[in-house]
Amino acid sequence: MRVLSGIQPSGKLHIGNYFGMMRSMIERQSESDLFCFVVNLHALTTVTDGKILASNTLEAAADFLALGLDPERTTFWVQGDVAEHAELTWILHNFTSMGLLERSHSYKDKAARREVPHHGLFSYPVLMAADILLYQAELVPVGRDQKQHLEIARDIAGSFNNVHGPVFTLPEALIDDKLATVPGVDGQKMSKSYNNAIDIFSGKDVIKKKIMSIVTDAKAVEDVKDPDNCNLFAIYGLFADDEGRAELKERYLKPGLKYGEVKKELIEIVWNYFAPYREKRLEMEKRLDDVRDVLKSGAAKARKAARATMDKVRDVVGLNY
Ligand code: ADP
Ligand code: TRP
Repeated sequence: MRVLSGIQPSGKLHIGNYFGMMRSMIERQSESDLFCFVVNLHALTTVTDGKILASNTLEAAADFLALGLDPERTTFWVQGDVAEHAELTWILHNFTSMGLLERSHSYKDKAARREVPHHGLFSYPVLMAADILLYQAELVPVGRDQKQHLEIARDIAGSFNNVHGPVFTLPEALIDDKLATVPGVDGQKMSKSYNNAIDIFSGKDVIKKKIMSIVTDAKAVEDVKDPDNCNLFAIYGLFADDEGRAELKERYLKPGLKYGEVKKELIEIVWNYFAPYREKRLEMEKRLDDVRDVLKSGAAKARKAARATMDKVRDVVGLNY
C-alpha cells in the first residue's frame, strides 16, 4: 500500500502536527511503502524570507528523523528538489475548474488574513494534488483541516482520467476521527502561523510558558468543570491512554480541580513524552550536513517514481513528440 504525506516548513513543528500526521506516518513505515516529504514549495505561499525557509526546511527534516522516521525504509525528501511536482502542477491546472478552487475553505481563510491574496494561495491545492498523484498514492494520512484538499485532488484526478484514461490512482484521506483537530493554547486550530502552538522540541521554559497560557473557562475551584469543552483537557488527552483520560474526567466532574495544577502536570507529561527524541534531535543539530545528504538521496529515489508517472502523463497529453 503506498502511503504519502507532507508537511510545510513554515515554522517549528508542533504537537498538532505530531498527533495529526507525523505519528501516524512513523507508525506505518514498517508495513507500508511510505513516501514522506517536506513541502517547501507550498511554504513559499506564506514564507517570504529565503534564509528562514531554507533553515526551517532542514529543521523540519531533522525533527522527523529524530522522531523515528527511518530513511532506509521510507522515501524521504524535499518537494522542491524534485522538479516533476511543478511540471505536473501546470498540467493539472488545465483539469481544475475555477469553481473547485473558489470553494476551498483554506483559500478563503488565508485570503481573508491578507490584504491582497496572491495566485500561489489559490493554486495551492493543485500543487498538493500533483504531490499526491505523481506518486500514485493510495492513502494520505492528514489532519482534519486537509480533508477538502484531498477531495480536490480526487476531483482533479477524476477529470484527468475522464479525458485520458486511468492514469492516476484516486487517493483516500486517512483522518483519525478520534483526534479531530488539536486545539492551540487559544482554542483555535493549533497552527504554526497562529502563534498558538506548543512546539515539539522547544526548551522547557518555552513549553512551560505556552502550557500555562492555555485558555480555560472562568469556573471557580469549587465548581464542577466541563471536560468536553476544555482545551486543556483536549491537549492533556493526547498524551493519556483511555484510563488516564477517564481519571482526569472524573477529577473535572468533582469540585476542587485547579486548572493551574493540571497545567503543571501537563508540562511534565509533554516534556517526558518527547524526552527520548529530544536527545536524538540535539545530536542531529550537530549533523545537519548528514540530514542534507539523507534528503538528497531521498530526492533521487522520489524522482524515479515521479518520472514513471510523468512519462505516462506526457505521453497521453501530447508533450512527447
Ligand atoms: P500548520 O497549520 O501548523 O502550518 P501544516 O499545514 O504544515 O500545519 O500541517 C501538516 C500536517 O499536520 C497536516 O496533515 C495537518 O492536517 C496536520 N495538522 C496541522 N495542525 C493540526 C492540528 N491542529 N490538529 C491536527 N492536525 C494538524
Ligand atoms: N497542505 C498540507 C498541509 O498544509 C501539506 C501538503 C502538501 C500535503 N502536499 C501534500 C499533505 C501532499 C499530504 C499530501 O498540511
